[in-house]
Amino acid sequence: MLAEKAGLCPEACRKLVRGEEMIGYALAHPWRLFDIPRLDSYLLALPPDPDCLYLHDIAVLPEGRGSGAAGRYVDHLRATARSRGLASLACVSVYGTSRLWRAFGFEIIVDPRLEAALRGYDESATYMVARVEESP
Ligand SMILES: CC(C)(COP(=O)(O)OP(=O)(O)OC[C@H]1O[C@@H](n2cnc3c(N)ncnc32)[C@H](O)[C@@H]1OP(=O)(O)O)[C@@H](O)C(=O)NCCC(=O)NCCS
Repeated sequence: MLAEKAGLCPEACRKLVRGEEMIGYALAHPWRLFDIPRLDSYLLALPPDPDCLYLHDIAVLPEGRGSGAAGRYVDHLRATARSRGLASLACVSVYGTSRLWRAFGFEIIVDPRLEAALRGYDESATYMVARVEESP
């Protein structure tokens, strides 16, 4: 399933590096706002009319954290979204990371229609959106 996401939009999927060393990875793909993909399922295809880049997953090895890898990747996503005419980035924040995403310009979107999909992630999951024109 990760390979499928990497194949759907290679430009938005990156090895995260510090110097020569790989310290993590991140996957994103064009998608529709307010549509939260189910966990552990195939996307099969991208929507014909995407309006955002959806950050599916990012992980940095514990020894690589705090080196700015996540921030550099979000900058890359902003540039990728701009080049594709996509006005927003979206993600589901889990593991209490909403403070981190806020620092990168994301805001929590509260909408009852999102609740069922979010509870498929974890109890603290929140849907977050960043406009690409705005600087964090
Ligand atoms: C979340 C994660 C990808 C951040 O990677 P990173 O490369 O350490 O991020 P950066 O170095 O760009 O950190 C940016 C800022 O976020 C902070 N931060 C990092 N992880 C955080 C977390 N879990 N919660 C809150 N803030 C966090 C850093 O302290 C840093 O703040 P500072 O610049 O004020 O010191 C990494 O901690 C990770 O892999 N965590 C486990 C998997 C995970 O939670 N993935 C995200 C799911 S939505």
